[in-house]
Amino acid sequence: MSSAITSTRHASCLVVTIDSPPVNALTEEILEAVAEAVAAAAEDPAVGAVILTGAGRTFVAGADIRMLERIAAGEEPPLRFNEAMARIEQSPKPVIAALNGPALGGGLELAMACHYRVAAQGIQVGQPEVKLGLIPGAGGTQRLPRLAGVEKAMEMCAFGEPAGAAAALEAGILDRIVEGGAVEGAVALAAEGVAVRRTRDRQDRLSDGAAAESLAALFTEACAKRMPRQAAPPAAVDAVAAAARLAFDEGLRYEKKGFEECLEGEQSKALMHVFFAERATGRVPGLPAGVQPLAVRAAAVAGAGTMGSGIAMCFANAGLPVLLADSSAEHLERGLANIRRNYEAAAGKGRLSAEQVQARLALIRPVRGYDGFETADIVVEAVFEELALKQHVFRTLDGIARPGAVLATNTSTLDVDAIAASTRRPDSVLGMHFFSPANVMRLVEVVRGRATAPHVIATVMELSRRLKKLPVLAGNCFGFIGNRMFAPYRAQAVSLVEQGAPVRQVDEALTNWGMAMGPLAVGDLVGLDVYWLIRQEALRLGIPHTPCASFEDELYKLGRHGQKSRAGWYVYGDGRRAGDDPEVARLVREYSSWQGIEQRAWSERDIRERTLLALINEGARILDEGIALRASDIDVVFVNGFGFPAWRGGPMHYAAALGLDRVRDRLQALYDAEGPYWKPAPLNWTT
Ligand code: NAI
Repeated sequence: MSSAITSTRHASCLVVTIDSPPVNALTEEILEAVAEAVAAAAEDPAVGAVILTGAGRTFVAGADIRMLERIAAGEEPPLRFNEAMARIEQSPKPVIAALNGPALGGGLELAMACHYRVAAQGIQVGQPEVKLGLIPGAGGTQRLPRLAGVEKAMEMCAFGEPAGAAAALEAGILDRIVEGGAVEGAVALAAEGVAVRRTRDRQDRLSDGAAAESLAALFTEACAKRMPRQAAPPAAVDAVAAAARLAFDEGLRYEKKGFEECLEGEQSKALMHVFFAERATGRVPGLPAGVQPLAVRAAAVAGAGTMGSGIAMCFANAGLPVLLADSSAEHLERGLANIRRNYEAAAGKGRLSAEQVQARLALIRPVRGYDGFETADIVVEAVFEELALKQHVFRTLDGIARPGAVLATNTSTLDVDAIAASTRRPDSVLGMHFFSPANVMRLVEVVRGRATAPHVIATVMELSRRLKKLPVLAGNCFGFIGNRMFAPYRAQAVSLVEQGAPVRQVDEALTNWGMAMGPLAVGDLVGLDVYWLIRQEALRLGIPHTPCASFEDELYKLGRHGQKSRAGWYVYGDGRRAGDDPEVARLVREYSSWQGIEQRAWSERDIRERTLLALINEGARILDEGIALRASDIDVVFVNGFGFPAWRGGPMHYAAALGLDRVRDRLQALYDAEGPYWKPAPLNWTT
């Protein structure tokens, strides 16, 4: 028997517990051991029923993803879960799944192969495979519609969102929710003398084939809107629809084919890469062994603008008291009003209770000056993006903050060392670069200065996770990882417009490829004034590859600052809908002719090639310079901070999947034709 399985007796029940920390992920070996235990119970006259449960706080969180990767790479034979599931389902004695915690993916599939499902309160069930570019591969698309109906099964398999216990009970996925422990509940159910009842034999909830087909058409359309260009969601819908027209075993074969196609595809490889990349960011090589993060019990934020108020919410959301200061009483008031509005909107949508709103608001205390900042274990600065101002603020904070307190700056581009140098404790200073809106976006770039102490890095990495953020460690350079790479990508987009590509064509070339927004529309969202300031600073510092002239500067000078001024690259009516502006087309023609920039027609492919090559090449430089610890960290930054499609794995994974030789050849060709801008950086990573 697998060491991950334990069997104990509970009255006349055999309780089989899957115990494979941290989340009881399913492997062939574990499932085989469960099937064996069920078979042995069938032979044992003393056993009346089998109860299957998970150790710890999870039932089974899904199949082991490393195993799936090995199967995809051809290093292991294809998935054989169905055989073991069938043996469990065929048991002549009742098998009851006791859901002590979440049953997701293979976990729900296993539970559905059991004859009954008893759940503790607060658990979740789901088929989240699409989030890894897969469809359920162990009967999920065939058993779920038999329990919950075709529509519910399509929704769960296509979108991957979990259902809470109550919803799952109502849908027919669960038989019972119990007050106490799931195992006790399952024992009680067994004592009622329940009979064997196989999900595979259920027909009552299945729609007829025609109804299932029309549901499939609706869901396929919804997938195209909600998860455009992803292969797995419509494949999951298709497999569920098959349950309505095929016999069970045939349906399983149909599902398996769809699963294997997804597993062999590029999208699942990219999504699994992102899954592991996100988990790897927390590992910081080179920190001395035994370095201890400091305890953070109280925080303070300087600057209550867009970012500062969002950052204060992050602390309050994690239950940490936070002081909020601003040099302008009016801005402080506005910041607090925004926070309140934000929480109330969350309550309005049912995401927070009225008590939670009150509790969180109570944790955020506005202060005059920096009153009380001496009590904070960490101070995050989020004042205007001006070096001299930030240095002044840090000098002041140095005089107030208690010894050992961490001083973090939320700067997007400025030199963290220059900020640290204005204090007498540069070892306590680092960057904590949140993304906007700070209370929503998971990404935080943790920027290590020259003098930042290891325990300070460890503290902020851990604190970020406590704030439910995704921290990525970055070295100190202009723009760190994300904004530094985004600059040449956007500069290419602008240059293409200068060379004759229509604004919308440039943006659509990238959104059609999967980017959440086009690079020019992003300019309008963030503000062309912000990008203008950043560009001036880059020019002042002599940052390589910064073009000395840019049409975007002209838009800025005309007061076209983007959405905030209702005009930028596009025009904006009442809402955020971007309208084409013939005036921009005229202005750019005028600009280009004045600058002597040659005009030509561009294909979407050309546009993508240039913008993405500029992005990847800068990523290669960042990696080469050690600004990012690993290529996969760069991917995490772009997927989580810049709307890069996760199913393409991030820029570095995408380049590696394309073939780094091919990328180098294309850069070299552009270099030969157009000069130094395109000089290939060292391209030698694996992801
Ligand atoms: P903002 O203009 O909304 O807020 C800045 C606030 O700082 C203002 O309320 C201002 O009154 C206050 N302030 C100025 N001097 C101060 C002082 N001496 N003491 C206390 N408060 C002072 O600016 P925003 O957008 O919140 O940006 C703040 C920082 O965050 C900047 O460094 C920016 O680069 C960075 N950042 C901004 C992002 C964004 O998307 N807006 C994203 C990531 C970082």
